[in-house]
Amino acid sequence: MKALVTGGAGFIGSHLCEALLERGDDVVALDDLSTGRLENISHLMAKGGFQFIQGSAANQALVDELAEQCDPIYHLAAAVGVELIVSEPVKTIQTNLQTCQAVFSAAAQFGRCVLLTSSSEVYGKGKAVPFHEDDDTRLGPTSLSRWSYAASKIVSEHLALAYHQQHRLPAIIVRLFNTVGPRQTGRYGMVIPRFIQAALDGDDLCVYGSGRQTRCFVDVADVVEALLKLPAEGQAIGQVFNLGSDEEVSINQLAKKVIAVTGSKSRIQRMSYEQAYGVGFEDLLRRRPSLEKIRKLIDYRPRRSLDEILARTARHFKDAGQT
Ligand SMILES: NC(=O)c1ccc[n+]([C@@H]2O[C@H](COP(=O)([O-])OP(=O)(O)OC[C@H]3O[C@@H](n4cnc5c(N)ncnc54)[C@H](O)[C@@H]3O)[C@@H](O)[C@H]2O)c1
Repeated sequence: MKALVTGGAGFIGSHLCEALLERGDDVVALDDLSTGRLENISHLMAKGGFQFIQGSAANQALVDELAEQCDPIYHLAAAVGVELIVSEPVKTIQTNLQTCQAVFSAAAQFGRCVLLTSSSEVYGKGKAVPFHEDDDTRLGPTSLSRWSYAASKIVSEHLALAYHQQHRLPAIIVRLFNTVGPRQTGRYGMVIPRFIQAALDGDDLCVYGSGRQTRCFVDVADVVEALLKLPAEGQAIGQVFNLGSDEEVSINQLAKKVIAVTGSKSRIQRMSYEQAYGVGFEDLLRRRPSLEKIRKLIDYRPRRSLDEILARTARHFKDAGQT
């Protein structure tokens, strides 16, 4: 058997494919290259056991054919990134729901284990920090397209759990919190690549809002280690897990750290959310996961510090000539 990774040419997907191959598994990566890039997986192309297919995870016939050959299925393909979501809300909703429908129905048909990467965004405006998996979700109004990503991930989770209950689909849901590292692109508004690129170019680092909002950043390598372990855990089936880091940093502190790590002469400037994303954009002050549940099951502990992550990512940007 081999693993199927939808979104395999994306940031997290490419690291997951690499780790699965390193462990000795065969891998099929399916990606439509909408935000993913061939450069992310070019080093894997010549490896035995790796196959790349350019196509959509919403293509039912294609996904059926791959599900027949593969187990487990990691479903990462999605429209991701705040800028993309605000500028292309139709695409976000359609991509996230249509791919889930195709993947879950194919996996159920062949009894394959599916791991869905959901998002911390599903907690929305929840204030009970840290967030626990069974907390209520609390989104803003449907008139704000910013919430369409969170809503699409909530429906994706419901669909996975519905397939689990009704069709015995072995489904696992993982809510990722800000995952960062080499190969993440700043093109769709992700803050760390955006700051590193600006710092290396000597441009101002643009902080949106007050900068006092906090986030917890986790290295993609820590996330991938957990993704490798979960499908082998019988007790993970039918469950939702937070996955990330629980170490908070404000965006102001982050900007200062990026300037220090890169040795840049850049300065920090501020921009309102309205200027950045248009009228009515809502952001969240804090977003910290409780990691108790995943820690109990697989002894999960993120190992890389934020300074290490920033140094590694900045090195990657320099080596890749992304500046
Ligand atoms: N990076 C994070 O911090 C974060 C946080 C929460 C959740 N996630 C989730 O993790 C997953 C991977 O995100 P990422 O950060 O690597 O983003 P990414 O944009 O690099 O990866 C998504 C990949 O899916 C591909 N894709 C999109 N639509 C597709 C389709 N119809 N068919 C096939 N491929 C398609 C894209 O080309 C891309 O390669 C997503 O499901 C995302 O929602 C990521």
